[in-house]
Amino acid sequence: MTITLTYQHQFPYSDRMKMVMIVAMDEDCNIGSSGELPWRLKSDMIRFKSLTEGDGFNSVIMGRKTWDSLPADFTPLPDRTNIVMSRDTNWYADGAVTALYVGRAIEIALADGCDECWVIGGSQIYEMFLERVEEIHVTKVHVGGSGNVSFPVWNKINWSEEVIEHVPEDAHNEHATTYSVWTKN
Ligand SMILES: NC(=O)c1ccc[n+]([C@@H]2O[C@H](COP(=O)([O-])OP(=O)(O)OC[C@H]3O[C@@H](n4cnc5c(N)ncnc54)[C@H](OP(=O)(O)O)[C@@H]3O)[C@@H](O)[C@H]2O)c1
Repeated sequence: MTITLTYQHQFPYSDRMKMVMIVAMDEDCNIGSSGELPWRLKSDMIRFKSLTEGDGFNSVIMGRKTWDSLPADFTPLPDRTNIVMSRDTNWYADGAVTALYVGRAIEIALADGCDECWVIGGSQIYEMFLERVEEIHVTKVHVGGSGNVSFPVWNKINWSEEVIEHVPEDAHNEHATTYSVWTKN
C-alpha cells in the first residue's frame, strides 16, 4: 500500500512512502523460536541490513518482543527510525519511538520523512500490517519445524512472486534459502 498525503504540506520530506514487509520463514511458516530467530543465516542478515537501511531515510516497525530479541549491540538498528509497537504506555527504550496502534506507527514514519517503512515482525506485527504493505520480501528457509512462532495466514491470491536468489547451505548459513519479492497485484 502506498501512503500518499493529499494536502500540500510544508515539511521538507517526501509525500510518498512505500510500505514493505520483510520476513524469513521456514517451509512450515515458522519465524521464531523461544523469542529468537531459529537459524543463523549470515546472507539473510546482510540483505536485511542493506534493504532496510536503504538510502538512510527508512524506518522499521517491530513488536516489543522483537525489539527485546535484538542483541544489545544492534538496538536501535542503526540509520533507521526504530518504531516499536507496545500496548504499554510506560514502555520506553533509548533509540526507539513507541507506537500504541498501527496508524500511529505509520504516522511516525511519515512525519520522519521516511522513503520506505519496513515492517520487520514478529508475528503479531506482521498480522496487523499484512493488508497495508505493497511488497513482502520473503526468505524461505529450506527446513521445517523450526520454532513456535509462525507467520500469520497469508492469502496469496492477489500476490505475485519474483524469485531473486538461491543461497546454498554453508559454514555461515545454517540452511539453504530462497529469497523472493512478492508484489501485490
Ligand atoms: N523470522 C523473522 O523474519 C522474524 C522477524 C521478527 C521477529 N521474529 C521472531 O518472532 C518472535 C517474536 O514475535 P511475536 O509475535 O511473539 O512478538 P512481536 O510481534 O515482536 O511483539 C509482540 C508485542 O507487540 C505489541 N503489540 C501487539 N499487538 C499490538 C497492538 N495491537 N498495539 C500495540 N502493540 C501491540 C505487544 O507489546 P507489549 O507486550 O509491550 O504490549 C506485544 O507483546 C521472536 O521469536 C523473533 O525472533 C522473526
